Amino acid sequence: MSVRDMLESVIKRVTVFKNKDALYPEFIPPTLPHRGIHIKQLAEIFKSLITSPGSMSLRAMLVGGIGVGKTVTARVFGYEIKHLAKEQGLDLRYVHINCHRDRTLYEVISEVIRQLGIPIPLRGLSPREMMIALLSYIEKHNIYVLITLDEFDYFIHTAGNDAVYFLVRLYDEYPDVKKRLNFIFIARDLTALSTLDPTTESYILKHLIKFEPYRSKELYDILIQRRDLAFYENTVSEDIIKFIADSEGIDKGGEGNARSAIEVLLLAGEAAEHEGSHIVLLEHVRKALTVTHPDIVKVSDELNFLQLHELLLVKALIRTLRAKGTSFVRIGEVEEEYRYICQLYNIKPRKHTQIYEYVNNLKHMNIINAKLSGKGLRGRTTLLSIVAPLDALEKRVDELIDKRLTTERNTL
Ligand SMILES: Nc1ncnc2c1ncn2[C@@H]1O[C@H](COP(=O)(O)OP(=O)(O)OP(=O)(O)O)[C@@H](O)[C@H]1O
Ligand SMILES: [Mg+2]
Repeated sequence: MSVRDMLESVIKRVTVFKNKDALYPEFIPPTLPHRGIHIKQLAEIFKSLITSPGSMSLRAMLVGGIGVGKTVTARVFGYEIKHLAKEQGLDLRYVHINCHRDRTLYEVISEVIRQLGIPIPLRGLSPREMMIALLSYIEKHNIYVLITLDEFDYFIHTAGNDAVYFLVRLYDEYPDVKKRLNFIFIARDLTALSTLDPTTESYILKHLIKFEPYRSKELYDILIQRRDLAFYENTVSEDIIKFIADSEGIDKGGEGNARSAIEVLLLAGEAAEHEGSHIVLLEHVRKALTVTHPDIVKVSDELNFLQLHELLLVKALIRTLRAKGTSFVRIGEVEEEYRYICQLYNIKPRKHTQIYEYVNNLKHMNIINAKLSGKGLRGRTTLLSIVAPLDALEKRVDELIDKRLTTERNTL
């Protein structure tokens, strides 16, 4: 292939993405499905910023696990309240500080000043002097500020109790000035707060908003929104989205982490693109899942412990999933395939009850997923699925089947 051909083939390669940016972590979506209640709670806490600005310094603490939307909720709220204030003729600014990066008092205050674009020469000033300069500038220019201190636990650890006290109880020292600084604190849990003195702690905890891990139905809605923004129409089916949502949902054994769900969607899209596929297939999602969840690779270790017929059953499941192209298949279909495979290998198949036992065992070892179907025409049935990439898994299963067969035949 000439260089020109290569170049052309890359440039003209089919792509499923219409706007990949919508899948990157820094993207702010237009709405936040399932975080309406949290936004409302924030609105309740900060409403007097609009109705009687300056009367009180307001604060809220957002707490929750990884990827549950704390950062994005604070940003969206900050953006909206800033614009609402503007309509009322109020100069309210939003500042978002990541304390993982800026974790000393000096760094935090200078970052606030920098983000506000205030012309205060910082060199040689102590944090206290910088703060006084900041307060007098915003007083003079009639500015209000909402500051989010994200990953606040880093600030507590590094800066310590006195710095936290200084920052959050600022107005105790200046009771008569207008309260222009307001705070949103964010942390994954509250353990860091216990190192603070109790009054500071209770001051911060006055308004606590909890973020729960996402359930699979909630992730489904979040992912559908991203799909519609990022992919061309009809390239990612609802089944694909449901499969990802189910693998990440807290109610389905996942972490309830939206970041990782969105990342899986991005990687699956890239896998499809890489293969020149016009649509995203389950196999692309499975590949993406092994990248984002290296523990799925562990499945292939577990396989070593399986008996011959369990391996044959896994192979049957793989083949049925591939043939159907769905995320789950009925156990009856798998059993049929299993009997067919036994015939190929010239092995007597095990009975139905035994198969059920194998399924339970495989489920227990997290090699397969099993669930009951909804009530269909023929009543309920067990549905089976595999998360790991089918091709790689089948290759490994085949090797092990061959091994088992050789040892069995040698012992006969
Ligand atoms: N309700 C939602 N709607 C749309 N996107 C969401 C929602 N919740 C989270 N996301 C997206 O998921 C990703 C993770 O969210 P975010 O960064 O807010 O998590 P976090 O709670 O701050 O996690 P961490 O503690 O790891 O910082 C982001 O890309 C965010 O845009
Ligand atoms: Mg965050």
